[in-house]
Amino acid sequence: MRLDHIAYRVKNRKETAKFFTNMFGYTLSEEFDINFDDGSSARCCAMSPPEKGNDRCPWVLKGGRRTRPPSPNTVFHLPPEIFISDGDSGSIVGKWVKERGGVGGIHHMAYQVDDISGLVSSWKDSGIKFLSEEIINCPEDDIRQIFTEPLQVSGGVIIELIERGAKGFCTKSVKTLMESTDKGKVEKDSEASYPDTLNWLLGRNGA
Ligand SMILES: [Fe+2]
Repeated sequence: MRLDHIAYRVKNRKETAKFFTNMFGYTLSEEFDINFDDGSSARCCAMSPPEKGNDRCPWVLKGGRRTRPPSPNTVFHLPPEIFISDGDSGSIVGKWVKERGGVGGIHHMAYQVDDISGLVSSWKDSGIKFLSEEIINCPEDDIRQIFTEPLQVSGGVIIELIERGAKGFCTKSVKTLMESTDKGKVEKDSEASYPDTLNWLLGRNGA
């Protein structure tokens, strides 16, 4: 498991991209538009960290798989990619940014996992709800993704689970994922979406 990417929805994606380039050395890896059926659109930038593809780093990904750390005590972690989007005032992204004072924020954090099907099944058993019934699959780009509902326990930040090969983002899946967020609202109830948070954390699920 590793943090795969952080997704920001912002007012001006180019300004945000420039910030991460200047401050951390991120580079633009992909740029594309998503056109929705209602005529609105979102514009997206995917940014790669400077460490990605650097063969001198012990944590480099090869063929989408982790290499072994050089010693059992080595801590390694490839910095996450950054996914940035902005959109028209009436679009899914534009409305989301407007609801947050016109500034936007972190929309979701994506964790790369080895067995997304097994994990989704396990999380559902724990009471966690997802924004789509099925895992969104893009076989041509070897990538599988799904969003949780906005979680109260994470301050409303959606958790994305992602299982991927070495390729980048699948634009078809990005559209489907964005559309799934149009209905997602943070639970306003005082309780988290699963039955008993503390017991769940302590491994006493169902107690
Ligand atoms: Fe994502």
